[in-house]
Amino acid sequence: MPVTAEDSGTAALAGRSVRRMGFGTMRLTANPDRDLAIRVLHRAVELGVNHLDTAAFYVSPGGTLGVGSGPKRYAAELIRAALSPYPDDLVIATKVVSSSPLRERVETNLRLLGVDALDVVNLRLYDRAAASLEVQFEELAGLQREGLIRHLGISNVHRHHLDQAQAIAPVVCVQNAYGVDLRLPSDTELLHECERRGIAFVPFFSVAGTGREKGYTAGAGITIPEGVSEQQFRIAWTLHQGPHVLAIPGTGSLAHLEENIAAGALRLPAFTAGP
Ligand SMILES: NC(=O)c1ccc[n+]([C@@H]2O[C@H](COP(=O)([O-])OP(=O)(O)OC[C@H]3O[C@@H](n4cnc5c(N)ncnc54)[C@H](OP(=O)(O)O)[C@@H]3O)[C@@H](O)[C@H]2O)c1
Repeated sequence: MPVTAEDSGTAALAGRSVRRMGFGTMRLTANPDRDLAIRVLHRAVELGVNHLDTAAFYVSPGGTLGVGSGPKRYAAELIRAALSPYPDDLVIATKVVSSSPLRERVETNLRLLGVDALDVVNLRLYDRAAASLEVQFEELAGLQREGLIRHLGISNVHRHHLDQAQAIAPVVCVQNAYGVDLRLPSDTELLHECERRGIAFVPFFSVAGTGREKGYTAGAGITIPEGVSEQQFRIAWTLHQGPHVLAIPGTGSLAHLEENIAAGALRLPAFTAGP
């Protein structure tokens, strides 16, 4: 019996209970093999994943990763092709960048995913140093009142942004870069603040670490227990940071997907909790 996402436990997201082991779809378009991407999505859901993270700008060639060739491949469209009609328990979180035309981007996400309303939309700050997100979050709250969005989150933020957003509308998740070798003290504080406020913390780059968009690079200087890969350790470490922390490791590989999902069953501090 393979380890499934069920072994990672559950946490609240968007008024539902999701497995703490989710899946990030940014890497799906790196490989031009569309069938492989669809198989990866099928396998993720088959292994119990019911929380996907995406964005309309996860597209190759030309998107965030800047890789690939050939016709455009949108991660959100691959999700639709693989999984629509969607399982009832599936939560798909997407994001829009604060510097973009927000209504237009929300409509693009609706179209690519083939839904009438988006489960979760994260307002992703273009510039984390921005003093305020209020204007943009107000606009998304308006789209939520129109029924285009069910729940709101924020991404690439500081604590004062969370305060600003919560004064406008409920926030169900915060998505920041965070990992064993990629963590600012202010993000650790924000992670704990999210737990106090009943908000899910959804770190990205938990496997890639300091490699960020370039992907995983070895050398966090951490001790890896025997029988566990460094990637698995990174995911287990992430899940160990709190019961409200959701993992969304990204991969375009079936083998890596299975390896990552198996990490949800590892329990710290059965081995070292890292530096
Ligand atoms: N809010 C935001 O601003 C933001 C920004 C970036 C990402 N995100 C979201 O967060 C998700 C996670 O981030 P991410 O995908 O950039 O980074 P990640 O999950 O931290 O790491 C992905 C990288 O690690 C490699 N990898 C994954 N599992 C592996 C394994 N078992 N063995 C070896 N290599 C492995 C992947 O390559 P392979 O494909 O070869 O496995 C890829 O290079 C994204 O998919 C996206 O949904 C959000």
